[in-house]
Amino acid sequence: MVMIDQELCIGCGACAKDCPGHAIVIKEKKAEVIRPCIQCGHCVAVCPVRAAEIPEYDMEEVEEYNPDTFRLSPENHLHAVKFRRSIRNYKDRPLEQEKLERILDAGRYTATAKNAQACTFVVVQERLEEFKALFWEEFPSILDTLKEKDSPYFSPFRYFYKQWEKNPENDTFFFNAPCFLMIAAENPLDGGLAAANMENQAVAEGAGVLYSGYLVGALLASPKLREWLGTGDKRVACCMLLGYPAVSYKRTAPRKKADIIWK
Ligand SMILES: Cc1cc2nc3c(=O)[nH]c(=O)nc-3n(C[C@H](O)[C@H](O)[C@H](O)COP(=O)(O)O)c2cc1C
Repeated sequence: MVMIDQELCIGCGACAKDCPGHAIVIKEKKAEVIRPCIQCGHCVAVCPVRAAEIPEYDMEEVEEYNPDTFRLSPENHLHAVKFRRSIRNYKDRPLEQEKLERILDAGRYTATAKNAQACTFVVVQERLEEFKALFWEEFPSILDTLKEKDSPYFSPFRYFYKQWEKNPENDTFFFNAPCFLMIAAENPLDGGLAAANMENQAVAEGAGVLYSGYLVGALLASPKLREWLGTGDKRVACCMLLGYPAVSYKRTAPRKKADIIWK
């Protein structure tokens, strides 16, 4: 439950007005929580006197609004969106722990349906070689499964496997990235949105990512790989490779016109 510090509360009603679940009312000039809620934290964020708190969360993490760190202009934001690129060439350099933690924070703070906050983030950096060894060991059985299911992934995957057998540097799955990240989520959109924010944070850290549908396809065909990753029955929402780009882009890539319906 949300808690309102009755001493601090000035009864302004900002929390009651912004609460999506109408779980707060003003009674005798004080805010009162009348029912359990999804704990979205709007009351915490909107209160002018910091009277609202959610004891289940670490309230020490709550940051005050600071206009100096909130000055991303519309032009800069669009520039960042346009200049991000899928990275398939990586430097042989791991990501620093503090950067990984900020990237994960960008995922953790992303919106989730019903504020479920139920994504699981698996970061494979230290044990990536072990995971890749298991991946390739499993590959023949992944191919069998895909063939059985008449999956469109079967032919390209068989080709990628042959390429890798010829030379393990030809790795169309891991691209020699130093870090693999998997997001498991019951709601795949929650995982996808988190991934996009994580990519933006990665770019801000000087790194970059590749979303990999191929790796998702391989994981879906391999209970053994999913077991190694340790996310149980949770759905594989997104796979990403992460690292410092060994390529620099001089300009944006062109795009189709957007398919927009104005009404
Ligand atoms: C959900 C998703 C899955 C993707 N899967 C792969 C993949 O398996 N292998 C790959 O090389 N690129 C993959 N990509 C990257 C796309 O090919 C890439 O985003 C697109 O070509 C545009 O290039 P850009 O990301 O540099 O703008 C994927 C992208 C998304 C969004």
